[in-house]
Amino acid sequence: MARRTSPVSDWATDFDVLDAGYIADPFSIWDELRQSCPIAHSSRRGSNWLPTRYEDITAMAHDIEHFSSVEVAVIPFDGEEPEETLLPYGLPPISVDPPVHTWTRRLLLPWFSHRKVDSYEAMTRDLCTTLIDAFIESGHADAAENYAQQIPVRVIARILGVPGELADTFTGWVRDVLEFADDEERRVGAMEALFTYFIAEVASRREQPSDDLLSELLQTEMDGAPLDDGVVLGAAALVLIAGVDTTWSSIGSSLWHLATHEEDRKRLVAEPELMSTAVEELLRAYAPVTMARLVTSDVDYKGCPMKAGDKLLMNFPAANRDPEVFADADKVILDRQHNRHVAFGSGIHRCAGSNLARMELKVALEEWLKRIPEFRLAEGAELSWAGGQVRGPRVLPVVFP
Ligand code: HEM
Repeated sequence: MARRTSPVSDWATDFDVLDAGYIADPFSIWDELRQSCPIAHSSRRGSNWLPTRYEDITAMAHDIEHFSSVEVAVIPFDGEEPEETLLPYGLPPISVDPPVHTWTRRLLLPWFSHRKVDSYEAMTRDLCTTLIDAFIESGHADAAENYAQQIPVRVIARILGVPGELADTFTGWVRDVLEFADDEERRVGAMEALFTYFIAEVASRREQPSDDLLSELLQTEMDGAPLDDGVVLGAAALVLIAGVDTTWSSIGSSLWHLATHEEDRKRLVAEPELMSTAVEELLRAYAPVTMARLVTSDVDYKGCPMKAGDKLLMNFPAANRDPEVFADADKVILDRQHNRHVAFGSGIHRCAGSNLARMELKVALEEWLKRIPEFRLAEGAELSWAGGQVRGPRVLPVVFP
C-alpha cells in the first residue's frame, strides 16, 4: 500500500518529495531553501538530505567516495529483499560504483552514440506523425497520454528488440517502478513482471540472436567469458526504466510550457532554428530526474552531519534553477547561450542516453509544432503531474483550432 504522510510545515527539516505541493511547484520551495537552508533534511522515508544549490549538487555528484550509487531510488524500498538475487549488480551501470561501473557503462555507450541515434530519427519522426494523425482532426488531445507517453517507449522497444505492441505493458511496469514506488505491491509486482519477461527474451535470443541490444549483450565477452545473465538482465531493464518515463516527462513538460506560454510557442514556430537552444533550455527548466545516493561513512558537509546509511537526493532539477549560475533562472529563455545545465546529471553517472533523449525531444516538438502550431490548455483542464524520482505531466488536455 502507498504510505500517506502528513502535510509538510517546515521544508528545511521535514521535507517530502511526494508532497502534492512539491510536485506541483517545487521551484518556489527550492528558492526559499537556497536562501534559508540550502541543504534540507527530513526523517520521513529514512534520513534524507536535499541540496538545492548547483555548487553543492555537482560537488556531491563527483564525490563517489562518500556518496555511493548502490541505492539510487529516491523512495526507499521498505519490503523484504529476496535473499538470492538474480541481479548481482542491480541495474548496472546506474546502481554501481567503480570498478564495476566503468565496464558496465562501456557496454551501453555504443548504443547511444550520435551515429546510432541518427539511425533512430526517421522512425521517431514517423511515429510522431502517426500519433498526431490519430487526433489532429478532433481539435483536442491529451498531449501527455496520446503523444509524449507514446514516443520513447517505442524507440526503446526497437533498440532492445522487443515488440512495440507491448508499449502499454512496458509503460505500466516503468510507472509502477518509478512513479508508484511508495506502493510496494505495485513496485514489486512490476519488477517481477519485467524480469520474467526479460528472462524469456534472453532465452529466445540465445536460440535466435538478432542485431538488437539484448542479443549483442549476450554475445559480449568479459575477460574471455560471456557476461553473467544477471548483468544482461539488469542492463536491459535499466535501458527500459531509464529511457521511458524520463524522456516522456521532458516532452510533456515542454508541451505544457508551450501550451501555457504563448510568446514562446509563437517564437519557436516563427524561428525554428532556435530548436537546439530551446531543447536545452526546456531540459534545464523542467529537468525531470532526481536520483539518490547512499552516504557510505559519516561526513560533515558544510556543517551538515551526514551519517553512514543516510540518503542524499541528487536534486539536479534544483541545481538548474540556481540563480547563482543561471541568470533569470526561473525564466525560460529559448535562445539562452550559456547553459551548463545538469538535467542529465554530473560526474561518472552522467546520462548514457542523452543523445537519444535530445533527439526524441527535438523531433517530438518539431513534428508537433509543424502540424499544431497553435494550441493551449483545454478550458477547465484538470492536469496531473507525477513526481518523486521523475517529474512530468501525466494528464495534459490541450485544444487546437
Ligand atoms: C530527458 C530524458 C532523460 C533525462 C533527463 C535523464 C537523466 C539522467 C540522469 C540525471 C542520470 C544520472 C543518474 C545518476 O547520477 O545517478 C541518468 C543516467 C542514465 N541514463 Fe538518462 N535521462 C534521460 C533519458 C535517457 C534515455 C533515453 C536513456 C536510454 C536508454 C537513458 C539511459 C541512462 C543510463 C543508462 C544512465 C546510467 C548512466 C551511468 O550510471 O553511468 N537516459 N539519466
